[in-house]
Amino acid sequence: MRVLVLGAVMIDEAMTVATFPNPGATVIAGAPQRDLGGKGANQAIVLKRAAVDVRLVAPVGEDADAEWVAEALTSEGIEVADLVPLGRSTDRSLIFVGPGGENAIASIIGAAEAVDERLARESVDLLGPGDLLVMQGNLTLDATRAALDAARAQGAATLLNPSPIRAEMAALFPLVDCLIVNEGEARLLSGKDTPLEAAIELREDGPGTVVVTLGRLGALALGDDGPVEIAGEPVKAVDSTGAGDTFAAVFAAARYDRGLSLGDSLAAATRAAAITVSRKGTRAAFPTRDELAAILPGR
Ligand code: RIB
Ligand code: NA
Repeated sequence: MRVLVLGAVMIDEAMTVATFPNPGATVIAGAPQRDLGGKGANQAIVLKRAAVDVRLVAPVGEDADAEWVAEALTSEGIEVADLVPLGRSTDRSLIFVGPGGENAIASIIGAAEAVDERLARESVDLLGPGDLLVMQGNLTLDATRAALDAARAQGAATLLNPSPIRAEMAALFPLVDCLIVNEGEARLLSGKDTPLEAAIELREDGPGTVVVTLGRLGALALGDDGPVEIAGEPVKAVDSTGAGDTFAAVFAAARYDRGLSLGDSLAAATRAAAITVSRKGTRAAFPTRDELAAILPGR
């Protein structure tokens, strides 16, 4: 089976802070780190490291940063022919990482927003029955809908991790087979207080599988056979950047590529995300091929 990730690639500029800056204030930051990021690229890289046959279609700018992005993706073994030059500059994120590993991120998404419905539809051409489309929340609602719809029409399954979240994304759920959200997103989208109530509500909108990540508490999934819950991994949180992306990618690899049960897929994704949380950076923190080989069965 083949996985197509359609989403954003960014350059992440991260720095650590003791406290987050308030309006009108300046804080002194340390430990600057430049890394490849963006939720689309992050999920594609983790899928690739998990030995999945993955393609990444992502927009870049017509600038020198695009070359840097291409080199970084090449070093991960990802085909850069699918990078689409759109607009002037490559998207980027400014990331503050606090002492407890929590972050605050501002992203510029000019290239991501330039992906139109035609490009979205064309990019999923290579998918067929048994394949999987993986998307996040950075593209426009129209482009996201067009890709999900086309993937479905070709018989492929669809996985949506609608982050960063917008309430309007709920309109896409009828086109989604597997929905992965965090606790806050689940509450916002469903209006329900508990993760299980939220999952029940969201599943009624269409996705046969709803996964709610619970941070250090683990994750909950609701599929055909009822809810499954898994405890979190005890880990010292250094930097949570990319942990959600790691979770989504490893869940996709486990469930769709390796065919694991819902519970085993949750367990694999939770273990992999804990690795990302325990290390600094985005890509620099992702589990390695060897670590993923220990988490996922071979294929
Ligand atoms: O999910 C983490 C990602 O979110 C970062 O790589 C950053 O680019 C932001 O989009
Ligand atoms: Na990290």
